[in-house]
Amino acid sequence: FEKLPLNLTVNGTAHKLSIEPRVTLLDLLREQLDLTGTKKGCDYGQCGACTVHVDGHRVNSCLTLAMMVDGKKVTTIEGLAKGDQLHPMQEAFIKHDGFQCGYCTPGQIMSAVACVREGHANSEGEIREYMSGNICRCGAYPNIVNAIQEVKN
Ligand code: FES
Repeated sequence: FEKLPLNLTVNGTAHKLSIEPRVTLLDLLREQLDLTGTKKGCDYGQCGACTVHVDGHRVNSCLTLAMMVDGKKVTTIEGLAKGDQLHPMQEAFIKHDGFQCGYCTPGQIMSAVACVREGHANSEGEIREYMSGNICRCGAYPNIVNAIQEVKN
């Protein structure tokens, strides 16, 4: 495949790249930018492990071609903390044990941040609905809801 130019900003850093048009944002992040915090669970839009923000909105990076984010700002789990200071949602997940094995956690946290930011954290039901695209095989759901409710309040 012929490579095409791609300009994007990831966690505040501008990148000028040359990529094959078939590369997903998920593979670009993990394999070319070494940002392996974003996880590949299913690779077809079912699990949410690959969730990142593009211009502030959450997307499944496995379903997004990297070329689609040309000129945009991407935030991954690595971009949430400020230096040594974790994002409040990261602190809340620790406090409430919002994970067990941790594989889904980066995607859960990226969705959770978007949930609060977009105003979908007004009730347990609303949170569960918004978070329904993020699967946790350990079943940490009640604790994830508690963490989101703490950040919301
Ligand atoms: Fe993207 Fe599962 S890896 S939704």
